[in-house]
Amino acid sequence: MNMEETLIKIKNEALSLILEASDIPQLEEIKLQFLGRNGKLTIAFKDLTKLPIEKRPEIGKLANEIKIVLEEAIDDRKKLLKESASQKERENLDVTNPGIKPPLGHLHLITQAISEITNIFEKIGITRVRYPEIEWDYYAFTALNFPENHPARDDWETFFTTEETNNKLGQIILTPHTSSGQVREMEKAVKQSQKTGDPISIRMLNIAKCYRRQSDVSHTQMFHQFEGLVVGENISIVHLKGVLDYFVKSYFGEKRESRIRPYHFQFTEPSFEVDVTCGVCLGKGCKLCKAGWLEMGGAGMVHPNVLKYGGIDPKKYTGFAFGWGVERVLMMKEGIEIDDLRLLYSNKLEFLDQF
Ligand code: PHE
Repeated sequence: MNMEETLIKIKNEALSLILEASDIPQLEEIKLQFLGRNGKLTIAFKDLTKLPIEKRPEIGKLANEIKIVLEEAIDDRKKLLKESASQKERENLDVTNPGIKPPLGHLHLITQAISEITNIFEKIGITRVRYPEIEWDYYAFTALNFPENHPARDDWETFFTTEETNNKLGQIILTPHTSSGQVREMEKAVKQSQKTGDPISIRMLNIAKCYRRQSDVSHTQMFHQFEGLVVGENISIVHLKGVLDYFVKSYFGEKRESRIRPYHFQFTEPSFEVDVTCGVCLGKGCKLCKAGWLEMGGAGMVHPNVLKYGGIDPKKYTGFAFGWGVERVLMMKEGIEIDDLRLLYSNKLEFLDQF
């Protein structure tokens, strides 16, 4: 058999196999068998070198043509097989089958916690407001009774911007706590009382993002706080403790108790730290909490200087304030244990889908 005959034989053999192929893997197999590195046609190409020089162009051209014909035949057959597969699928369609439901998302668990907290306080007339997260130093520190350069400022590991400093209000910062809303709320209430002639009355819940220079398993640079501020005539610690208890029972459940411990904040006097009984041992003491109590956050009676900064007469009015972390209370709630707080903001669906 001469070279030309060999080539024609390869072509015919390949074409008949291609036409008989009944699925894509089979086609791939045929392609390999003829056009692959050790394929029959590939070897024939190599054999061209054995021909006398004057024969090579003619036979070479033939071999090339066959290669193109085979490639096209394989592509055509592939298309045909694909079409008939989807045709078959259509024929097999059973319209009485139940449909495939699109996946449903849900609110992020921090958003869920914020709306739950908002609802709890709304029931006792403490309603949500919003104040700037990009804030003047004045509202975050100075008006909260932090003297200039006071070392207590360092406890709030603040992010400063490079914006121009204002003579009265100081630098622009990312607010490190929701307490920055306190004096803003007082200014609003004073204006309102001047307009209506009614006594000053504040029932504020300020929930916002806060920012601090911190990042580890229990701290994120951005987190959320909810801040309560109540100002009026004859407001006392008794009211503060009543509101704390009410929140703790409503949010954590009837079995949980709260207590206040003396502490220090520049903007409250006296100041407290609020603890809640552990959800696992209910105050007896266990591995999770050690002494039976978990720390929730700060609170206190509004410092007279802060009332003055807000334009309120501390001889006539008193108030209480508290500020707690949304992430913190969420984690303290029974049944939710998060090893690494940063997971909350990781956008990992495997994690978020669980809530
Ligand atoms: N702002 C305080 C903090 O971030 C909490 C606090 C709020 C304390 C209100 C007392 C009163 O830690």
